[in-house]
Amino acid sequence: MTERRSFKWPALLTSTGRGIAFGGDYNPDQWPDEVIDDDIRLMREAHVNTVALAIFSWDRIEPREGEFTFDWLDMVIDKLGAAGIAVDLASATATAPIWLYDKHPEVLPVDRYGHIVNAGSRQSWQPTSPVFKEYALRLCRAMAERYANNSYVTAWHMGNEYGWNNRYDYSDNALHAFRSWCKDKYGTIEQLNDAWGTAFWSQHVNSFEEVLLPRHMGGDAMVNPAQQLDYERFGNDMLLDFYKAERDAIEKICPGKPFTTNFMVSTDQCAMDYAKWANEVDFVSNDHYFHEGESHLDELACSDALMDSLALGKPWYVMEHSTSAVQWKPLNMRKRHGELVRDALAHVAMGADAINFFQWRQSSSGAEAFHSAMVPHAGEDSKVFRGVCELGAVLEALSDAGLQGTELEHADTAILFSAESEWATRCQTLPSMKLSHWHDVRDWYRGLLDVGRRADVVPLAYDWSQYKIIILPTVLALPDVDTRRIADFAQTGGTVIIGYATGLVDERFHVGLGGYPGAGNGLLRQMLGIRSEEFNVLGSEAEDEPAGITLSNGMTTRLWQNDVTSTAPDTQIITTYQGPAAADWELDGTPAITTHSYGAGKAIYIGCDLDRQDIAHLVGLLSDALPLPSDQTAADSSQTCDARILHTVRRSTDGAVRFDCYLNRSKQPVEITGIHGEPVVAYRCESVAKGTYAIMRNGVLIMRSER
Ligand code: GAL
Repeated sequence: MTERRSFKWPALLTSTGRGIAFGGDYNPDQWPDEVIDDDIRLMREAHVNTVALAIFSWDRIEPREGEFTFDWLDMVIDKLGAAGIAVDLASATATAPIWLYDKHPEVLPVDRYGHIVNAGSRQSWQPTSPVFKEYALRLCRAMAERYANNSYVTAWHMGNEYGWNNRYDYSDNALHAFRSWCKDKYGTIEQLNDAWGTAFWSQHVNSFEEVLLPRHMGGDAMVNPAQQLDYERFGNDMLLDFYKAERDAIEKICPGKPFTTNFMVSTDQCAMDYAKWANEVDFVSNDHYFHEGESHLDELACSDALMDSLALGKPWYVMEHSTSAVQWKPLNMRKRHGELVRDALAHVAMGADAINFFQWRQSSSGAEAFHSAMVPHAGEDSKVFRGVCELGAVLEALSDAGLQGTELEHADTAILFSAESEWATRCQTLPSMKLSHWHDVRDWYRGLLDVGRRADVVPLAYDWSQYKIIILPTVLALPDVDTRRIADFAQTGGTVIIGYATGLVDERFHVGLGGYPGAGNGLLRQMLGIRSEEFNVLGSEAEDEPAGITLSNGMTTRLWQNDVTSTAPDTQIITTYQGPAAADWELDGTPAITTHSYGAGKAIYIGCDLDRQDIAHLVGLLSDALPLPSDQTAADSSQTCDARILHTVRRSTDGAVRFDCYLNRSKQPVEITGIHGEPVVAYRCESVAKGTYAIMRNGVLIMRSER
């Protein structure tokens, strides 16, 4: 694994440099200069202490080629700094000016059909274009030279959401870069032929010069899945290289400041493999937009659980979220009263030390005019702005109480996440297009919360050996080395839960032979003590076909069902298929979920997909077989709780101070008892008696206690 840069957190302009960062993307270039003083007045009122500045300001900074005009930016930074507001300064390269595209249309990306992508939105450039890189790096150097010694600039914000719009580029530049990427990866063309299985459909290549991009090949022609997966990795690596080049250009001139770029971690997105990116930033930061509906809080916590693992347990930064509605979905719901503050505090409860929004002032024109902001169209006399001020005060109280720098307590259970498996589940040559690794991770996360267990979400590539339980839902592409690590984990006493489509292929998209799951040349099957000869894809909605198959304990599978046989005398069957649909498929009484001892540990196989309710039901059934969470053995841990509450603990690194965070997951008030410490935040929450609190819908309680 690449060595990680050391953790470096941006200072605030407070006397100690410490405190929870609070603010948002600040785009004063959208407004007349007079608005800036008013902005600063309102920022102070709202306790804003930091802003991300100049993200989309390239055309203002370099209005014509080579003509740099910094006066406006100097003025804005000076005013902010004088008001005690620190600047997370952008490289300003996220959107190039029209003059650049006009002069160099060759930097525009090409889609898979060979169409040139048009300029006029954002990120309309090829990650592999040397011409674009030259312009971007020149701007980076100019920014660095100008602001290297500016004490108000306390962090660098590189690009913006790399890969949001130019993740897939099929240009000739990309083709040449892909060929050399493949050469670096495989060394010899035989290795590539072997990995891609090119014996199929006459795809043998004689040299790296014959390697192709997975461009559109007519009709519904299918792409070689191994080639597609490599193309995904390549796209990730090209953008990461681009980020590194920009970062290095600035760092050379301006060493010592912390660098970051905003990730896009959310449980239905996976543009990048952030397990790699996290090594290249000084602090990790994320843009997270809420999912409307019942999953709102759980989804946020699940995304954040991955963020906290990417940060290796260190505090991390919410670079963007919304005070209320976004504007980029077909229907954009606003937040309910209380959710503005609750969501921000939920991020804090999950390990964030910085709460920023997109954006400070709601635009009055342009594509994002209907996206919410900290100062809405209605102005300061508005619920949203009052909520922002209330949040600022609460965050300041948490800073004063010493929350900043405390770390989220780990759970005992890790759900393993792999960006490569998420990409693999999107592959169009799989037996079902309904597979989703991320959604299964989220269902497991929520199913566990439903029975009062909290899990971490940890990248497969990281070290998860300290957990008691690991869960692999739909880790479709499981490399041999990871299969070995999993088997070793079980061998030495860990409990492993393997989901129905985990280990179906390896990282080259090769299917292991001898039965499913084939990962590790049979090692996964051996660990599980089962074998599946065939699987059945459900949900086709074909006439007179059962929509699902029931299990003997009342659960239902609706998507994917493996025909499982036990292969070890000590494999125990936890539940079988039963009922009319099972009979229809001649499955009655055959194993659906099994458990098998392996070394000092245990391996549980879930042979079919389950929804969140059934996962919760299953975890309840398995509770005797699963190690107890620590809080049932250690009095002060955070692992289980009333299932209606999300309970997390942040501790100081010396263990002396802890903050217990309680968030209501339900729509009804929830009363919690036996609560210790001093309340620092009681938001939509009332003290009922000593140690007893009633937390309302969207309420949050944060207690501080000392050892
Ligand atoms: C992000 C982006 C912001 C803004 C925001 C709206 O993806 O970084 O600039 O567009 O979405 O939700």
